[in-house]
Amino acid sequence: MIFTVAIDGPAAAGKGTISRAVAARFGLAHLDTGLLYRAVGARVTAGEDPAAAARDLRPEDLARGDLRTLEAGAAASRVAALPEVRAALVDFQRRFARAGGGAVLDGRDIGTVICPEAEVKLYVTASPEIRAHRRWLETGGDPAAVLAEVRARDARDMGRADAPLRPAAEAVMIDTTDLGIDEAVARACAEIAAKLPTA
Ligand code: DC
Repeated sequence: MIFTVAIDGPAAAGKGTISRAVAARFGLAHLDTGLLYRAVGARVTAGEDPAAAARDLRPEDLARGDLRTLEAGAAASRVAALPEVRAALVDFQRRFARAGGGAVLDGRDIGTVICPEAEVKLYVTASPEIRAHRRWLETGGDPAAVLAEVRARDARDMGRADAPLRPAAEAVMIDTTDLGIDEAVARACAEIAAKLPTA
């Protein structure tokens, strides 16, 4: 079975949680594509050339323990604006998306650029304030600084020239501002169940 679920949206909207839940529910492979950019960002922060780091990304880069911090997210967002970095990561993501058995990919450009042929496209979003609050619960620190970081990341991810964050034309919107995680997952599952090939 070739079957791709593309889940895009801004930082801390709930994409990761929804993606992991639906992948487990339907037995699909899952790729958190943000992790690829975070790993490249970490190597660039350590002094490497962005395109070279992206071309040479290894499994151990993705296993580092420091990729979930706000700083790693900001570094990821910066390298993600570089067309040569994005180009180096396209083939791996496309192969993962169309490998047999079905796959869920979450990111910013999955439904628009990486896999426009995805059978299911979801766009998961929420207000900047609620996303910043969720991030702050994980990271602590100054709430105003976390909100500023969320807004800066939105502006960078949505404003870049190459593969900007935007919903695919046919994407189904899931706004988690006032939605519990169980209901958000249930909506995503309903969309997938309706498209999943039977037998
Ligand atoms: O989903 P995340 O917060 O881990 O992503 C980190 C950054 O990586 C995000 O701000 C922009 C970039 N990114 C991207 O440009 N394209 C993707 N498909 C995934 C992430």
